[in-house]
Amino acid sequence: MKRLLGIIPALFLLASCGPQEAPGTKSSDLPFKPTGDALHLMEWVLEPAADHIWDSAGEIITAEGVRDLRPTTEEGWLAVQHSAAVVAESGNLLLMPGIARDSGDWQEISLAIVDAGLRAKAAAEAQDADALFEAGGHLYRVCVSCHAIYIQGEAKPDILGPERSE
Ligand code: HEC
Repeated sequence: MKRLLGIIPALFLLASCGPQEAPGTKSSDLPFKPTGDALHLMEWVLEPAADHIWDSAGEIITAEGVRDLRPTTEEGWLAVQHSAAVVAESGNLLLMPGIARDSGDWQEISLAIVDAGLRAKAAAEAQDADALFEAGGHLYRVCVSCHAIYIQGEAKPDILGPERSE
């Protein structure tokens, strides 16, 4: 049965580029189901989760004075952990065929998103507001470094800095 199933996609491939071609990025070739492009991943998965981290650390100045943004409840910290896990997993999603642009800078920066997400998750788990603030700053620099290269078309910024080797 397995052999039979293999024949059908092979016949489709024959029409275009031959059955020996490496797995492509057409949805019919993939063992998973893409839900959208990089922009979709940014807008609906990565950015909302990152925003939640940034909104949960540091301070803001309001008309009433300075307000500490750290979560004040167990549920609040758990929700930040959740968002940090989403950020970390988004780094892996950025590496999926059809989303990944190359196996150089893109791959390195995507893996840095995984690390930054895990770092924020550990900070939230420890309920360490200072560590979460720093992890959020690091995460922001990783976002910006990818945009600099792949949106602005600039050279790779050296903003991942020494933290990259952590
Ligand atoms: C590995 C590369 C990469 C990383 C890391 C990355 N982005 Fe993006 N991002 C892109 C690309 C490429 C686009 C443009 C997509 C398009 O327009 O098709 C984009 C677009 C966006 C957009 C749409 C608006 C715009 O500026 O064009 C938002 C919002 C965004 N990213 C947020 C984030 C946030 C927040 C992070 C970090 C938590 C992040 N991105 C990390 C590659 C990346």
